[in-house]
Amino acid sequence: MMEPENGHRAHGFSSAFFLDSDEIIQELDLKGDETFMDAGCGDGHNAIKVLEDYNHKGTVYAVDVYDASIEDMDKYKKKNNVENLVNIEADITEGIPGVDDESIDVVLMVNVFHGFKASRKMDEAVDELARIVKKDGKIAIMDYKPWDVPKGPPTQFRSSPEDLEKLFNNHGLKMTYLNEEIGEDIPEGKSHFLIMFGKN
Ligand SMILES: C[S@@+](CC[C@H](N)C(=O)[O-])C[C@H]1O[C@@H](n2cnc3c(N)ncnc32)[C@H](O)[C@@H]1O
Repeated sequence: MMEPENGHRAHGFSSAFFLDSDEIIQELDLKGDETFMDAGCGDGHNAIKVLEDYNHKGTVYAVDVYDASIEDMDKYKKKNNVENLVNIEADITEGIPGVDDESIDVVLMVNVFHGFKASRKMDEAVDELARIVKKDGKIAIMDYKPWDVPKGPPTQFRSSPEDLEKLFNNHGLKMTYLNEEIGEDIPEGKSHFLIMFGKN
């Protein structure tokens, strides 16, 4: 475990070290009143940025399976008296308790989805995302390109945007946006893609 910049514990490598949070959040086009979820939040830096720098007034959910990450988010909430932050310890592939069907406007997942491929739980994860997102909501997945490069997850656990499109289509979701020029500059190009899905 590596200690992220904000001191919160994260199970995995926090993207705060190498991805530009603003570049990601600006892709989401938030108005400020949405119900937003940082799914697989880790140290929670994206959720915290939305709350602090984007002055978000809607409810912000931070969800992670790692108990220490959620403990740290609870400490942050208490210390800063953030009423619109809801932290939930949950395995996304088993369902997120306390989150109603079609209640979330925007779900963001940064560097999480490849883990579902590794655990062979991609269908379960997409089912849960489809359950919680509103009819006019969006699911934004940012992950490593399926390249055989040293930084990031093993190549066999990476998905291409086309693979994700097929998978989400099978769950009744449609691709609404794709950016393949995002992330870190590596010798091969940009390290990541960001793909969005919705119900319409
Ligand atoms: C590589 S970290 C990325 C964290 C954060 N999104 C970021 O960009 O820094 C992956 C995170 O996903 C979480 N995670 C993995 N599988 C999960 C699952 N099934 N349900 C909820 N969280 C999960 C891990 O605990 C970890 O915090």
